Parts: sequence; structure tokens; C-alpha cells
Amino acid sequence: YLQMLRNFKVKGLDPSDKDDLLLVEGLDYHVLIKWGDRISEKDNFGFNNDFTCFIPLDSNNPKDGLLWVNHEYINPLFVSHFDFNKYENPKNQKTKDQVDKEMYNVGGSIVRIKEVNGKWKVVENDPHNRRITSQTPISLNWDRPIKDKLTVKGTNSNCSGGITPWNTFLTCEENYDSCFGETEYDENENPTHVESNYGWEHFYNYPPEHYGWVVEINPKDGSAQKHIALGRFAHECCTVYELEDKRVVAYSGDDKMNEHLYKFISSTPGSLKEGTLYVADTVNGKWLPLDWERQPVLKKKFKDQTEVLIRAREAARLLGATELNRPEDIEIDPITGNIFVALTNNVKKDDHHGSILKIEETAGKFDSLTFTASTYKAGGEESGFSCPDNLAFDFSGNMWFTSDMSGSAMNKEGKPYMAFKNNSLFVIPRFGEDAGKVIRVASAPKDAELTGPWFAPDGKTLILSVQHPGEQTIDIKKPTSKWPFDDDNIPKPSVVAITGKLIEKMHKLSQIEQ
Ligand code: FEO
Ligand code: CA
Ligand code: CA
Ligand code: CA
Repeated sequence: YLQMLRNFKVKGLDPSDKDDLLLVEGLDYHVLIKWGDRISEKDNFGFNNDFTCFIPLDSNNPKDGLLWVNHEYINPLFVSHFDFNKYENPKNQKTKDQVDKEMYNVGGSIVRIKEVNGKWKVVENDPHNRRITSQTPISLNWDRPIKDKLTVKGTNSNCSGGITPWNTFLTCEENYDSCFGETEYDENENPTHVESNYGWEHFYNYPPEHYGWVVEINPKDGSAQKHIALGRFAHECCTVYELEDKRVVAYSGDDKMNEHLYKFISSTPGSLKEGTLYVADTVNGKWLPLDWERQPVLKKKFKDQTEVLIRAREAARLLGATELNRPEDIEIDPITGNIFVALTNNVKKDDHHGSILKIEETAGKFDSLTFTASTYKAGGEESGFSCPDNLAFDFSGNMWFTSDMSGSAMNKEGKPYMAFKNNSLFVIPRFGEDAGKVIRVASAPKDAELTGPWFAPDGKTLILSVQHPGEQTIDIKKPTSKWPFDDDNIPKPSVVAITGKLIEKMHKLSQIEQ
């Protein structure tokens, strides 16, 4: 049996452009929840689900708990029936009702889920079920107000996230400028407002400075706070490690072309309120402190530490941080402690397929201020994947990751993504015949991206988001995808639960080999 397990090989999927969620033999799925589903008397599940994570209600029962799901962004065509293509200048054309619908459909959801007879199900109308939206009041975990407020309205652009060692959810505000725009400064420090894509600021004049943060959510009551000390940028994720003395280290990438990788080291145990934010110089292997007191170059440009944190991108550049090819998700290898960062691509630097970067902290210490960086896997036709985005390790140390080729370039003649077909989920087994190989185990419906992979605490279920199926639709009567094949033919972002023999076999093999 042992030899059989060692010899066991996974026959990966071929690239596919089929409009369906395809899984490799040995895996099955069912839809857990989809856009529009009622979760409580007053709330519905939001749009474009991304990051998922799960915390058991009682640590003795891993099969009953609270699922957090990010709702990253909306497609106006489906959500508010606003059709960009009908207007020469689409900005400023939405009605307040349309904007309200859009703002309701972003943020996140808390839903209680339970496993009954091997199948995960949503517990409808559970008192924990609730929505956090773009209008929910959220406090700033900071001693000074930002744009005159210590409590702000809502969270948006919630892409990936993490959990804290004290069992709360972390959700990260990524492309916040699409909602309320951005403030930019000229060489004389004069600010100008750059308009958003959605045009929400025409009805709600919320300052851009209230967005672009890491947000912590209490699973039990939904109360939320934004952690200013972790800086403001297009946070993809927040991956937290607890040090022996209970202080925490949090890694986060800024998913924008030529932006940076950050780590925060807290100064107090069990809290993300105070500490030092560092940015990576990957050439010299140094974490550079974004600290107004200690950095004359920052003191000269910014009036205080709050301003350094609000304008973290500019501060990072002044310190000489290394520009990266769009840092996306970050995970810590549970066996070696190495840190992996998905660098999705950088078309301006001719990197079309991206790579996975490996960071080794000096002496394996997470609070070290030096490290070495190297490429773990490069994307491309030879390795079989392009544009890595979300990462997840299962409890056996196998690496799972998803791809995010953009819908406008995927499956398009003449674009570098043709051979890869639809976005997919891959696994890199740690042991056995397939160790180190990249294997395609799921293929997404048309125009969709698989996001938010998260292993339930029993290690046997992979929770996964199917985000933006049918995103390239121009005419709502002729959607490019119909997944998950409801009677109304409207594609719906959904969360699925994946189980099966493949996960169990890989787990058994790792138990034998370790
Ligand atoms: Fe929302 Fe960087 O992906
Ligand atoms: Ca992402
Ligand atoms: Ca992840
Ligand atoms: Ca992405």
C-alpha cells in the first residue's frame, strides 16, 4: 500500500476553455453559496466573492463555524444594470439607486456553515450571518483621526486577507481607488482628486484616505477596525505569524505594477495597533523601516508618521525599496517557514507570466531585518501556468495556487495567454512521484478566476471562490458564461466546497514521508 501511495501520480487536467468548473479525477465539488442568496432576514450574499476563511465556533468541533467571504468588486452590468457601453462619458451617469445597489454588494459576508454527512451547508438565518458593506461604520485603530474621522464608512475592494492568531478575520482593501478615487500630489505638494471608475463619490463624498487599509473583523459580532499601522496601499492580503512572545509579524503586498512588498512587526503582543512597518529591498535582502522618526528623508517630505502611512507608496520609493511585478498573495510554508509571494506579472517589464518568489528570513526568524530572495517557480508555457495569484498550503505542506490571467487577454488570439486557456487551480505536491511538479487540478468557467482557496480545519475540504464568471459579457441577454447554470442563465460568482480522494491521498502520503 505504501509503495502504491508513493507511486501514485495525478493526471492533471489539460488547459480548457469550456464554460464549466472542471475538476481532476479524485475531486468533487458542490456550490456552498452564490451571489444573491439570502443569508438572513435582511441580508443577501454579495458579488464577486474572493478571499474565504473559516473559524470554528468551538475549537473542539472543526465542522461547524463561521465562514468569512470577501466581496471584492461589482460588475455594474449584472449588479446595478448600468451599461457602460451605452454612454459616451459613462462617469456621473448612474442614479443614486444604482450606486446604493453597487455599494451594498461589496465588502464581505459572515455565514455560519456546518458539515453534515460529508457535505458543507450554510445555516440559513443563523444569528451570526451578516453583511459588512461599503456603508457599514468601521473604526480606525489609530490615535489620530484621518480626514477628521475616527470612524469611517464601509470597506471596499476586499481582495484577499488572512486570520489572526486570536481568531479574527483580516480583509484587505486592494484597488480602493475604483470606488472613491485617489488623492495625488504634485511636486509642490498640492493635492488633486483623481476620479474613481465607479463614480460613487458623486453621491457619497467619502475621502479616499479612508480606504486602502487592512481591516480586522470580529467573527462573532461583525465589529470591524482598520489598522493604520500596516500602511495604506493596494493590500492584496495580510499573512500573520505569531512570534514566541506573542508579538505578530504581518506580510502584505501592494498589487500594482512596480509596487512593493511590506512586513509589519508589532511592538505589543496580540495586537496590530502599534509596531513598525518595513518595506522590502529584495536586491540587498533588507527590510527598510517606514519610520518618520528614524528616516531623515521621510521627515523632510511628510509632516508625521500618519502621513507616511497614508502615503506609504511614496515613502517606500524614497527609501529605495525594490519595485516588484505585482505582489499578490503570500503564504508561509508550514514545514520550512519559508515565505512565498505570488508575483502575478508586469506587462510593462515584459513579464507576462509572473513567478512565485521565495523569501527566507535570516536564521528563520520572522522578526529578522534581513533575508534572501529567490525565484521558486517562473510562469510560462514550459511550467504550464501563467499569472499566479492566490496561494494556500494544505496541512501536509502541498502548495496550491490559482492563476489570474485578465479576461480581456485570456483565450485571445495573438495574446501570450492563448495556450493556457481558462484560469485554473494548480497543486505542487511535496512528496511522491509528482513532488515539485505543477499540476492543473481545476479549470474555471469562462472569464472566471478561482480565488480565495482555504482549507477547512479537518484538512479534507478546500473552500474556493469562483469569481467573475462571464465578466466579458456585453449584452446581458447573451452572457459569456452561464455558470452555475441557474434557470435565469445569469452567471453568478459563488463559493464551492471541494472534497475527494486526491486530497486524502496526498495527506496520507505526507504522513508516511514525514
Ligand atoms: Fe484582487 Fe490582486 O487581486
Ligand atoms: Ca488576487
Ligand atoms: Ca492565501
Ligand atoms: Ca489578480
